[in-house]
Amino acid sequence: MFPMPVLMIATYGENNKVDVMNMAWGGICAENMVALNIDENHKTTENIKKRGVFTLSIADIPHLDESDFFGIASGNKMEDKFERTHMHAKKSIRVDAPIIEEYPITLECKVVEFQHTVYGFRVLGEILNVVADENVLDERGKVDPTKINAFVFDQFQNGYYKIGEKVGHAWKNGVKYM
Ligand SMILES: Cc1cc2nc3c(=O)[nH]c(=O)nc-3n(C[C@H](O)[C@H](O)[C@H](O)COP(=O)(O)O)c2cc1C
Repeated sequence: MFPMPVLMIATYGENNKVDVMNMAWGGICAENMVALNIDENHKTTENIKKRGVFTLSIADIPHLDESDFFGIASGNKMEDKFERTHMHAKKSIRVDAPIIEEYPITLECKVVEFQHTVYGFRVLGEILNVVADENVLDERGKVDPTKINAFVFDQFQNGYYKIGEKVGHAWKNGVKYM
Protein backbone atom coordinates (compact mmCIF):
# COMPACT_ATOMS: atom_id res chain seq x y z
CA MET A 1 0.00 0.00 0.00
CA PHE A 2 1.13 3.55 -0.68
CA PRO A 3 1.06 5.98 1.00
CA MET A 4 1.24 4.74 4.57
CA PRO A 5 1.11 7.30 7.40
CA VAL A 6 4.01 8.01 9.74
CA LEU A 7 2.35 8.22 13.15
CA MET A 8 4.08 8.66 16.47
CA ILE A 9 2.41 6.91 19.41
CA ALA A 10 3.49 8.37 22.76
CA THR A 11 2.90 6.80 26.16
CA TYR A 12 4.13 6.80 29.74
CA GLY A 13 5.73 3.74 31.29
CA GLU A 14 6.93 3.14 34.84
CA ASN A 15 7.91 6.34 36.69
CA ASN A 16 6.30 8.35 33.89
CA LYS A 17 9.09 7.42 31.47
CA VAL A 18 8.20 8.70 28.00
CA ASP A 19 8.16 6.21 25.14
CA VAL A 20 7.39 6.95 21.49
CA MET A 21 7.00 4.46 18.64
CA ASN A 22 6.69 4.81 14.88
CA MET A 23 3.48 3.37 13.40
CA ALA A 24 2.48 2.95 9.77
CA TRP A 25 -0.27 0.35 10.24
CA GLY A 26 -2.65 2.70 12.01
CA GLY A 27 -5.08 5.47 11.22
CA ILE A 28 -8.55 6.89 11.41
CA CYS A 29 -11.27 4.21 11.48
CA ALA A 30 -14.32 6.35 12.35
CA GLU A 31 -15.00 10.07 12.69
CA ASN A 32 -13.60 10.25 16.24
CA MET A 33 -11.69 6.95 16.40
CA VAL A 34 -8.25 5.62 15.58
CA ALA A 35 -7.11 2.00 15.19
CA LEU A 36 -3.58 0.93 16.07
CA ASN A 37 -2.39 -2.36 14.60
CA ILE A 38 0.36 -3.02 17.07
CA ASP A 39 2.65 -5.86 18.08
CA GLU A 40 1.84 -7.03 21.61
CA ASN A 41 5.54 -7.22 22.53
CA HIS A 42 6.21 -3.50 22.13
CA LYS A 43 6.83 -1.35 25.20
CA THR A 44 4.17 0.99 23.83
CA THR A 45 1.60 -1.83 23.97
CA GLU A 46 2.43 -2.58 27.60
CA ASN A 47 2.13 1.12 28.45
CA ILE A 48 -1.22 1.47 26.65
CA LYS A 49 -2.60 -1.60 28.42
CA LYS A 50 -1.58 -0.20 31.81
CA ARG A 51 -2.82 3.39 31.41
CA GLY A 52 -5.55 3.02 28.77
CA VAL A 53 -4.46 6.18 26.95
CA PHE A 54 -1.96 7.41 24.34
CA THR A 55 -1.27 10.33 22.08
CA LEU A 56 -0.81 10.09 18.32
CA SER A 57 1.21 12.70 16.46
CA ILE A 58 1.86 13.34 12.80
CA ALA A 59 5.61 13.12 12.19
CA ASP A 60 7.23 16.01 10.31
CA ILE A 61 10.31 16.19 8.08
CA PRO A 62 12.41 18.29 10.51
CA HIS A 63 12.16 15.31 12.91
CA LEU A 64 12.42 12.49 10.36
CA ASP A 65 15.59 10.97 11.88
CA GLU A 66 14.13 10.92 15.38
CA SER A 67 10.85 9.52 14.06
CA ASP A 68 12.61 6.68 12.25
CA PHE A 69 14.67 5.97 15.37
CA PHE A 70 11.42 5.60 17.33
CA GLY A 71 10.64 2.73 14.96
CA ILE A 72 14.01 1.00 15.37
CA ALA A 73 14.71 1.19 19.10
CA SER A 74 12.47 -0.29 21.79
CA GLY A 75 11.80 1.08 25.24
CA ASN A 76 11.99 -2.56 26.34
CA LYS A 77 15.70 -2.64 25.63
CA MET A 78 16.83 0.98 25.67
CA GLU A 79 16.33 2.80 28.96
CA ASP A 80 16.98 6.27 27.48
CA LYS A 81 15.21 5.78 24.11
CA PHE A 82 13.30 9.07 24.19
CA GLU A 83 16.04 11.09 25.92
CA ARG A 84 18.58 10.23 23.20
CA THR A 85 16.64 12.31 20.67
CA HIS A 86 16.65 15.46 22.84
CA MET A 87 13.01 16.04 21.91
CA HIS A 88 10.65 17.47 24.53
CA ALA A 89 7.52 16.05 26.12
CA LYS A 90 4.84 17.59 28.32
CA LYS A 91 1.93 15.88 30.02
CA SER A 92 -1.41 16.16 28.25
CA ILE A 93 -4.05 17.85 30.40
CA ARG A 94 -6.75 15.49 29.09
CA VAL A 95 -5.08 12.09 29.12
CA ASP A 96 -2.31 10.52 31.20
CA ALA A 97 0.09 10.46 28.26
CA PRO A 98 2.83 12.73 26.92
CA ILE A 99 2.56 15.25 24.10
CA ILE A 100 5.79 15.46 22.08
CA GLU A 101 6.19 19.20 21.73
CA GLU A 102 8.10 19.27 18.44
CA TYR A 103 5.41 17.46 16.42
CA PRO A 104 2.90 19.83 14.74
CA ILE A 105 -0.35 17.93 15.40
CA THR A 106 -1.25 15.55 18.22
CA LEU A 107 -4.43 13.58 18.92
CA GLU A 108 -5.16 12.81 22.59
CA CYS A 109 -6.82 9.40 22.77
CA LYS A 110 -8.34 6.99 25.27
CA VAL A 111 -8.67 3.27 24.66
CA VAL A 112 -12.20 2.04 24.04
CA GLU A 113 -11.37 -1.53 23.01
CA PHE A 114 -8.53 -4.03 22.85
CA GLN A 115 -9.11 -6.48 20.01
CA HIS A 116 -7.34 -9.85 20.17
CA THR A 117 -7.94 -11.49 16.82
CA VAL A 118 -6.41 -14.37 14.89
CA TYR A 119 -5.05 -11.70 12.55
CA GLY A 120 -3.25 -9.77 15.28
CA PHE A 121 -3.77 -7.28 18.07
CA ARG A 122 -5.55 -3.96 17.63
CA VAL A 123 -6.22 -1.01 19.90
CA LEU A 124 -9.24 1.17 19.23
CA GLY A 125 -8.94 4.67 20.64
CA GLU A 126 -11.40 7.52 20.91
CA ILE A 127 -10.00 10.92 19.96
CA LEU A 128 -10.78 13.26 22.84
CA ASN A 129 -8.97 16.29 21.50
CA VAL A 130 -6.60 17.54 18.81
CA VAL A 131 -3.69 19.86 19.60
CA ALA A 132 -2.07 21.83 16.76
CA ASP A 133 0.83 24.27 16.63
CA GLU A 134 -0.34 27.75 15.73
CA ASN A 135 2.14 27.88 12.86
CA VAL A 136 0.33 25.09 10.98
CA LEU A 137 -3.01 26.95 11.04
CA ASP A 138 -4.36 29.16 8.27
CA GLU A 139 -5.93 32.59 8.81
CA ARG A 140 -9.28 30.93 9.68
CA GLY A 141 -7.69 28.77 12.37
CA LYS A 142 -7.93 25.54 10.36
CA VAL A 143 -5.01 23.17 9.90
CA ASP A 144 -3.26 23.91 6.60
CA PRO A 145 -1.69 20.61 5.44
CA THR A 146 0.88 22.45 3.33
CA LYS A 147 2.35 23.82 6.58
CA ILE A 148 2.70 20.50 8.41
CA ASN A 149 5.83 19.27 6.60
CA ALA A 150 4.42 15.77 6.80
CA PHE A 151 5.90 12.74 5.09
CA VAL A 152 4.60 9.29 4.27
CA PHE A 153 6.02 5.77 4.39
CA ASP A 154 6.47 3.59 1.31
CA GLN A 155 6.02 -0.07 2.10
CA PHE A 156 7.46 -1.17 -1.27
CA GLN A 157 11.02 0.09 -0.78
CA ASN A 158 10.98 1.37 2.82
CA GLY A 159 11.24 5.00 1.69
CA TYR A 160 9.91 8.14 3.28
CA TYR A 161 8.33 10.65 0.88
CA LYS A 162 7.54 14.32 1.25
CA ILE A 163 3.91 15.42 0.75
CA GLY A 164 2.14 18.74 0.94
CA GLU A 165 1.32 20.21 -2.48
CA LYS A 166 -2.42 20.65 -2.98
CA VAL A 167 -3.55 19.21 -6.32
CA GLY A 168 -7.32 19.18 -6.00
CA HIS A 169 -10.37 19.56 -3.81
CA ALA A 170 -12.32 16.56 -2.49
CA TRP A 171 -16.01 16.42 -3.40
CA LYS A 172 -15.45 19.19 -5.99
CA ASN A 173 -13.05 17.97 -8.69
CA GLY A 174 -15.35 15.10 -9.67
CA VAL A 175 -18.55 17.11 -9.75
CA LYS A 176 -18.21 17.78 -13.50
CA TYR A 177 -19.02 14.09 -14.16
CA MET A 178 -22.20 14.12 -12.08
C1 LIG B 1 8.24 2.88 9.31
C2 LIG B 1 7.88 2.01 10.48
C3 LIG B 1 6.56 1.67 10.70
C4 LIG B 1 6.20 0.85 11.77
N1 LIG B 1 4.88 0.53 11.95
C5 LIG B 1 4.53 -0.28 12.98
C6 LIG B 1 3.16 -0.61 13.18
O1 LIG B 1 2.26 -0.14 12.48
N2 LIG B 1 2.86 -1.47 14.20
C7 LIG B 1 3.82 -2.00 15.01
O2 LIG B 1 3.47 -2.77 15.93
N3 LIG B 1 5.13 -1.66 14.87
C8 LIG B 1 5.51 -0.82 13.88
N4 LIG B 1 6.81 -0.46 13.71
C9 LIG B 1 7.83 -1.02 14.63
C10 LIG B 1 7.90 -0.27 15.98
O3 LIG B 1 7.90 1.13 15.79
C11 LIG B 1 9.23 -0.69 16.67
O4 LIG B 1 9.20 -2.10 16.91
C12 LIG B 1 9.54 0.05 17.95
O5 LIG B 1 10.84 -0.32 18.34
C13 LIG B 1 8.60 -0.23 19.11
O6 LIG B 1 9.00 0.58 20.18
P1 LIG B 1 8.61 0.31 21.70
O7 LIG B 1 8.97 -1.14 22.04
O8 LIG B 1 9.47 1.30 22.48
O9 LIG B 1 7.15 0.55 21.82
C14 LIG B 1 7.20 0.37 12.66
C15 LIG B 1 8.55 0.74 12.46
C16 LIG B 1 8.88 1.56 11.38
C17 LIG B 1 10.32 1.96 11.18
